[in-house]
Amino acid sequence: MRANFITQLKETFRQARGLNLPAKKFKEVVLLGMGGSSIGGDILRALAFSQSKISVHILRDYHLPRFVSKNTLVVCVSYSGNTEETLQAFKEARARKSSLFVIASGGKLEKQALQYKIPFFKIEIKAEPREALGALLAPLLVLGQKAGLIKITPSDFAVQTDLENKVKEFAAKIENTTPIFVGAEHLVPVARRFKTQVNENSKQAAFFEELPELCHNTIAGLDNPPSLSNLCFVILSSPYYYIRNQKRVKILEEIFQQKKVKYQIWQVQGSPTKIIEIFNFLALADALSLKLASLNKADPKAVPTIDYLKKRLAAR
Ligand code: PA5
Repeated sequence: MRANFITQLKETFRQARGLNLPAKKFKEVVLLGMGGSSIGGDILRALAFSQSKISVHILRDYHLPRFVSKNTLVVCVSYSGNTEETLQAFKEARARKSSLFVIASGGKLEKQALQYKIPFFKIEIKAEPREALGALLAPLLVLGQKAGLIKITPSDFAVQTDLENKVKEFAAKIENTTPIFVGAEHLVPVARRFKTQVNENSKQAAFFEELPELCHNTIAGLDNPPSLSNLCFVILSSPYYYIRNQKRVKILEEIFQQKKVKYQIWQVQGSPTKIIEIFNFLALADALSLKLASLNKADPKAVPTIDYLKKRLAAR
């Protein structure tokens, strides 16, 4: 398994440039997907947050919210094209006559997109879903740009690729811990991505939290049980955070020290814009999870527990 997020992103962005939206106007955008196929939607939403007047929603579930209508753009993302939650929500969106767009590498979603003449982008990369984020995100960025949700240029892909030393250092810090990745603002989805990559690739327990919310509950729970020695808060820090969130990070450091809870503050240098910072962190999350996989002697490609659950569900 190779961490090649940025190469995939650049190449697939070029291929996806010609994509067209299924409708000219819509009231809102809903992105459907699970696991490795849903995170691209989170990134698009984070980028759209400060730029778009149209709301962007992510659905990781079977059923569509009531507001979804023929005036909604629904984008269905599933690497395999066979994920049951996404297929169910896709069916409901068809019934509501929403404007639809499908992104998949094949499976039932591809079949149905072709059958019902729904605009479709095929993911050509052969990989595990979580390994294909660059390819899954690129068409979303193109659609987001065409829908006026975001602005993006080739210079946004100028990420730093030399992560080798950082990865070693960071992996050593959280090896044998239960990391809780913490992000604020544009880095909330990135904290989620760290968590999911460490779970699936490294076979290691990990969680994520968001700032400022964590300051209103999580820190109150650091007193019990008496030993939290396995936890390690990893705060993804950014010079782009709102000044009050930057202050919160500093105060959190004090609190973690007082409570004797392990923590790390991580930054990626060489990020001249927010979007490059997001991409740098995403590349780091991939590489870190692979490094941890090797330290844990885990196979990053196999997810036997997820396979078991999917098999049991299929058996009814
Ligand atoms: O990364 C993974 O392998 C999983 O999180 C999958 O993405 C998830 O189970 C959904 O499958 P798919 O991406 O094929 O829709």
